[in-house]
Amino acid sequence: MAQRPPIEVTQEELKRQRACMAQVKDSAAGGKYKIVTYGCQMNAHDSETLAGMLTEMGYEPTEDVALADVVLFNTCCIRDNAERRVAGNISALSALKRERPGMILGVCGCMTQQEGAPESLLRRFPHVDLVFGTHNLFRFPELLLEVLQSGRRVTEIDRDERGRIADGLPVRREGGVTGYLNIMFGCNNFCSYCIVPYVRGRERSRTIAQVVREAEEMAKSGLKEIMLLGQNVNSFGLDGESGENFPLLLRALDGVVPRIRFMTSHPKDLSDALIEEMARSHSVCPQFHLPVQSGSDRILMEMNRRYTRAHYLERVNALRSAIPQVGLTTDIIAGFPGETEQDFEDTLSLVRQVRYDAAFTFIYSPRQGTRAAAMDGQIAEAVKHERLDRLIKLQESSTREQLDSCVGSVQDVLVEGPSRRRQGEISGRTGRGMTVNFAGAPDWVGRIVPVRITASGANTLRGEYDKSGNEEMNK
Ligand code: 5AD
Ligand code: SF4
Repeated sequence: MAQRPPIEVTQEELKRQRACMAQVKDSAAGGKYKIVTYGCQMNAHDSETLAGMLTEMGYEPTEDVALADVVLFNTCCIRDNAERRVAGNISALSALKRERPGMILGVCGCMTQQEGAPESLLRRFPHVDLVFGTHNLFRFPELLLEVLQSGRRVTEIDRDERGRIADGLPVRREGGVTGYLNIMFGCNNFCSYCIVPYVRGRERSRTIAQVVREAEEMAKSGLKEIMLLGQNVNSFGLDGESGENFPLLLRALDGVVPRIRFMTSHPKDLSDALIEEMARSHSVCPQFHLPVQSGSDRILMEMNRRYTRAHYLERVNALRSAIPQVGLTTDIIAGFPGETEQDFEDTLSLVRQVRYDAAFTFIYSPRQGTRAAAMDGQIAEAVKHERLDRLIKLQESSTREQLDSCVGSVQDVLVEGPSRRRQGEISGRTGRGMTVNFAGAPDWVGRIVPVRITASGANTLRGEYDKSGNEEMNK
């Protein structure tokens, strides 16, 4: 495929946004905002950028939507239930808008980027003031200003699928010890079930220098762990001529923060170089999210995943031999069109074989405009549900088994905060990503401490601080 260098949003355009932010700040001093976020980490991080821009514009966050002057719905359309929830929640705000007509209600994110969606949103929800998309998120200040000044409804969607990169936007990260960092945007894979390539555009990567600069700022602000985000992080750098790639990025980031994780990876692009770099790196955690989607070669082909079950298992083996303690997680879809009982059995047997730490399991949901939505052999809802239930049960036993295998070991745990389960305890995660609850002081948050694992539950571990262990500043 012909590639072109990423189109950076120009300094001129960013300057215009900064000027709009200043103008809004003058007019909206003291206002409050609420962002309602749906979907994946990408969306969560986009919301942090929107929050950063709102903060620059003088707004303050509120948890109570009834007090908000600006409400944004950052939407997801990956499955039908995500879209239905968004629609229900937008609809529920119509009474509030009648009481407080000055409140500005905006809808953005993946849902708005679909063909015909903005028109349909405006028609169904007369109380929505502003609709914008994923490709022009950086223009939010300008669009908000237009609504404030004109009092009219504003819709602005950029339909250029190549997408662009806006570097240097303000970000207001959610609290905690971990921060999200976008390294690339978009997806070129066109898995036949997936709407993402249509709403997030083509792959485009930031430069290593840009990513490292942001990571250093995050470290300076006190974050201990960075989650690198991209639809397919293995393709980082490959869209340009720079010669940069994901293993080189990991090398450049090593030591910037104590812990680095990343998601999501595509099994077809998981290289030996990446595995070697992970094994070598001090910061990269021994955790790998490797979506398999199905264990049947026939279904993988229909899904346009471009790998076989054997290839996937070979990559799993390569990971495990280089990084024996690695924890694997995955995504699986049950009930893809044409999936027979035998195909589904193949998925179950793959799950049995790999023994994942965790799996995100989904019922296939037809997405308009994708190839799979038009395929013959759509599976009845009841069958999809029944398969999902079996899959979840199997995964639960695998999760228990993996947690159990850690009992007796000493793990480095990054303390995240007070335990949600037990009063007086704190909670953190192992390098592999497992949650551990143990007795400790609240001011340990952000430290990596050795913990002896004493017991395992359905989803978490219990342990005790290991006084004899060395407190390390890695993984
Ligand atoms: N139906 C069900 N699950 C889907 N996913 C993506 N598209 C669909 C769909 N149409 C799942 C995949 C992907 C995860 C983020 O969402 O498993 O890896
Ligand atoms: Fe969707 Fe496939 Fe791209 Fe993941 S790799 S975002 S599943 S098209």
